[in-house]
Amino acid sequence: TTIPTINWVLNETSYTRLCSTKKILTVNGLFPGPVLRVRKGDRVTVNVENQGRYNVTVHWHGVKQPRNPWSDGPEYVTQCPIKPGGNFSYDLIFSSEEGTIWWHAHSDWSRATVHGPIIVYPENGTTYPFSQPDDEFPIVLASWFKGDVMEIIQTALASGGEPNKSDALTINGQPGDLYNCSKQGTYKIVFDYGKTYLLRLINSIMNEEMFFMIAQHNFTVVGADGAYIKPLETDFIFIAPGQTMDVLIKANQSPSHYYMAARAYAGVVYDNTTTTAIIQYNGNYTPPSTPAFPNLPDYNDTDATTIFTRQLKALASKDHPIDVPKTVDVQMFVTISVNTVPCDTNSCNGPNGTSKLAASLNNISFVTPEVDVLQAYYRKLEGIYETDFPNMPATVFNYTADEFPDELLLPERATKAKVVKYNSTVEIVFQGTNLLMAAENHPMHLHGYSFYLIAKGYGNFDNATDPDLYYNLVDPPEVNTVGVPKNGWAVIRFRADNPGVWFMHCHLERHSSWGMDTVLIVKNGNTEATSMLPPPDYLNPC
Ligand code: C2O
Ligand code: CU
Repeated sequence: TTIPTINWVLNETSYTRLCSTKKILTVNGLFPGPVLRVRKGDRVTVNVENQGRYNVTVHWHGVKQPRNPWSDGPEYVTQCPIKPGGNFSYDLIFSSEEGTIWWHAHSDWSRATVHGPIIVYPENGTTYPFSQPDDEFPIVLASWFKGDVMEIIQTALASGGEPNKSDALTINGQPGDLYNCSKQGTYKIVFDYGKTYLLRLINSIMNEEMFFMIAQHNFTVVGADGAYIKPLETDFIFIAPGQTMDVLIKANQSPSHYYMAARAYAGVVYDNTTTTAIIQYNGNYTPPSTPAFPNLPDYNDTDATTIFTRQLKALASKDHPIDVPKTVDVQMFVTISVNTVPCDTNSCNGPNGTSKLAASLNNISFVTPEVDVLQAYYRKLEGIYETDFPNMPATVFNYTADEFPDELLLPERATKAKVVKYNSTVEIVFQGTNLLMAAENHPMHLHGYSFYLIAKGYGNFDNATDPDLYYNLVDPPEVNTVGVPKNGWAVIRFRADNPGVWFMHCHLERHSSWGMDTVLIVKNGNTEATSMLPPPDYLNPC
């Protein structure tokens, strides 16, 4: 069988939003980018040609890429960048994921405009575990910046201060009616009364988790991160950057116009955080002058975030079984912090004027290496990364307190990886911290895997309590991104059966840029079938 090839050209295309026009990096001129439609079990090549001004790479978020980290995409983790004028062929292997996932650029902040849906349909001869919807619509939430996104992050990193989080949030590329100069373009969907629609919801927003609702309509969530879940009836959705959801909606309200709206869940109030689209029913009626607006949770409703997430359960059916590790070979305790590092120039404007904002996992602020970790690992190059990613003891500090010893405020800057044996069972306890009083929800994402989210809670994780009392080993959701609650913790488990080099990071872009990242190296097994595929012969030089 031949592997189909898709050609993507990354080029700068003019787009106008919020009354100003600028050039943005796009795939084939499209924002959001093209939908990649495949079936479970497919293998596809996507050839990416970079006609833009900056280095870029593309990541296939939620595609596990069994034994094939070479095509995973994160810049300087699994490959060197595709330079302007260069190209790279991604070999995509769709194995067990099914449902909505997505792709995005994975270099600096280029994913702001370079992203789009991946829809993995059931294998030929199989069907959804729910009745076939009448139609489907990808719904991509994203951020819009008036400035050049690459300049915004580079300037912020140099000065040490906060980058602009965005100037607007968008639904399918449009800010919607609540923003200046945006009414004309507001995204619209037409419903036929009585039909059922599948919304393929993707949070590609750079820096905010979102509440999502449609006025007077309820949802049935049937999938998350490319795996089926037990149908969940809800009127609102909470979705973090990196996460995807498959959502059924019945067009069962009186034919009219209704707002679809998404609002940021944020620590502080600020403007420009609600994006809207319009659902309009077919039929003869007088549309309201203002469509009904949904009653979204407040920007700071932390309880709503937990209420929603704790209802997600794996479908765990005969056709879609799950396999949660019952025992643990490798246990990791990973603290997630925003901190500071010393200023390396004399013009920093981080907290207290002399330091730069940074972020860390276990107090290691990740430094992007100059050669990708995968190549360094494969070719045994010295001095690119270290393998001593530390384990933080669970009970040493009160991580959710308001004050901390200096040793926690100043992280070490390094490129450290955690190495585990093939097929070991891994448990990671993510512990959010309140360093710099900056506690927030962190969507932690692991490449190359889906993992089971077996528990989460507020405060400090307490391993003195018998975990079996509250760990869900029966039907935990199988996801690739977990929102670690603000001032709380989450526990995940997975079997390390995908050899390779896999990035793990917060999917809030400013946190990742500040160093809230690490690398998981899963060694080869003893046979060829349990080892990494050989590198392609067209690797780009760094
Ligand atoms: Cu969605 Cu490392 O990425
Ligand atoms: Cu974060």
